[in-house]
Amino acid sequence: MRRIHIASLFAAGSLALLSSCDIQAQAKERSYGLAGEYRFDKSNTIYLEDLPTGTDGSLLGALEMLCGTPAQPQFLLLEDWVDDGYDPNYPDYPEGDMGSGEITEDEWAHIEEDNARVFAVQLRAIAAGEYDRVVPFRGAPGLQAKWDELFAEAMGDEDGDGAPDFIVEESPNPPDYIAIDSEEVFREEAALLLTSWYPRLSDSAELYRLECLHCHGTEGAGDGSTAPFLHPAPRNYQPGWFKWAAVENKTKPRRVDLYNVISEGSYTSAMPNFKRFSRAQIHGLVDYVRLLAIRGETERLLALELDGGEYLTSELISETYAGVWEQWNGADEKVVHCEGDVPEPTAELLARGRELYMDANGGNCFSCHGDQGLGDGASAWEDVDGVSQRIVDDWGEEIIPRDLTSGIFRGGRRPIDIYRRIAIGITGTPMPAVPDTLTEEDRWAIVHYVLSLSDVHDGLGLDSMRMRADHADHGHEDQATEGH
Ligand code: HEC
Ligand code: HEC
Repeated sequence: MRRIHIASLFAAGSLALLSSCDIQAQAKERSYGLAGEYRFDKSNTIYLEDLPTGTDGSLLGALEMLCGTPAQPQFLLLEDWVDDGYDPNYPDYPEGDMGSGEITEDEWAHIEEDNARVFAVQLRAIAAGEYDRVVPFRGAPGLQAKWDELFAEAMGDEDGDGAPDFIVEESPNPPDYIAIDSEEVFREEAALLLTSWYPRLSDSAELYRLECLHCHGTEGAGDGSTAPFLHPAPRNYQPGWFKWAAVENKTKPRRVDLYNVISEGSYTSAMPNFKRFSRAQIHGLVDYVRLLAIRGETERLLALELDGGEYLTSELISETYAGVWEQWNGADEKVVHCEGDVPEPTAELLARGRELYMDANGGNCFSCHGDQGLGDGASAWEDVDGVSQRIVDDWGEEIIPRDLTSGIFRGGRRPIDIYRRIAIGITGTPMPAVPDTLTEEDRWAIVHYVLSLSDVHDGLGLDSMRMRADHADHGHEDQATEGH
């Protein structure tokens, strides 16, 4: 079993250390609040203030039981999970062995390799015995605590001879026995601590607090302090809707979908890319975004039950939570695949694409994107009480159909990415899926036509900056897109 010795050595001490290591944080960030406003779609919103009095406390209590606090985020284990040895708090441990097994052996090898790269400076310092050059681990309090503890244990000078002892007490359980009885063993353990690191949810919550919270907010409601200045707005994760995923409209994203968008960013929106983070860190952020989304979705559904006159019994709470989890765990079945190869963009295919783009019963794209693709079609506005206004998305934000000549494709610009946008529409936005009557070839015709609109307009030199431009090398083989 990989890493078990490290884990068990520190399991006892780490909880106490974790909660004490971040004293500067703002009070508000130490606890999660309630959203107060629960959107189901554009026209259906429930408000907390309209729910029976006393609801706040019980809702908050239920959510804390299920998902913990920002300092100690943690998924409550369902009974079945305990029986099956399944634990989504540990995606890096095998399923059946108190993990969820979501990090595959292959991915684990990539993570270790990447850890070695990211921690190269520290690893060199450890190898050279210059332990004071091991700089603090930013945004990873759990790792910091483990390092500090390992260091303190190893560097103790119990015998008072002025030199570190490099001896730790023997654990009473032989299988977990580890003795740092030489500097060499210490170095090995210290290096292993770094190369085999996978962030716990509390580490990722801290990284999120430092890097994401000012946009996405403490609870992930998209309401951080920077958010009012941004358009498009930072995603509100709470309804569990993600736009740039390969799954059917409004279904939960796969890990790889979230991984890609965090790693690559959303081109020309305020959502930066986080390529500078290690794979382990990005996976940890996926875990944490999922926690916030599951917490938010559970809150929303419980608010709906309360609105319907139900009481928050423990059965209702755990059923609702289990239902949300089921959807997240079923994401792989919702992937939009396509058979065969991408056809060549022949002149005939492009002409067919143009025809469908302009056909109200075909693609009907022109109605929003305009006949030149500039995003100025008539349906980009709607009439509200006699006033013409921008259309809005399901989060309640104004939204502008993309200028398709700009070359901006936030969900990726590979043909398969555009294919998916067309086949499923864009989750949470007014952009619909194309009708079922369109054949596979029709869809590819539209894809190629769309791509051709920006091919001729690259005066801004966007090519060099384009996100995810032919980005197949991030090692995240997306099974559904192989061959495209
Ligand atoms: C400066 C503001 C900003 C910061 C910082 C930021 N984001 Fe975002 N994020 C956005 C915006 C804006 C969007 C919406 C982009 C869009 O609609 O294309 C977004 C969207 C997302 C999405 C949803 C993508 C989808 O498919 O719907 C995820 C997930 C996400 N961000 C995660 C993160 C994480 C994790 C961090 C921190 C490591 C982070 N963001 C930091 C602004 C930000
Ligand atoms: C009801 C209006 C509407 C219709 C009809 C519509 N779109 Fe869109 N489309 C939008 C909006 C709004 C966005 C912006 C979404 C965003 O930025 O989150 C968009 C974005 C896009 C994008 C950018 C995707 C990305 O990765 O950034 C493409 C490509 C696109 N549309 C193609 C099409 C095509 C092709 C059709 C016809 C098959 C079509 N749209 C029909 C409203 C529409």
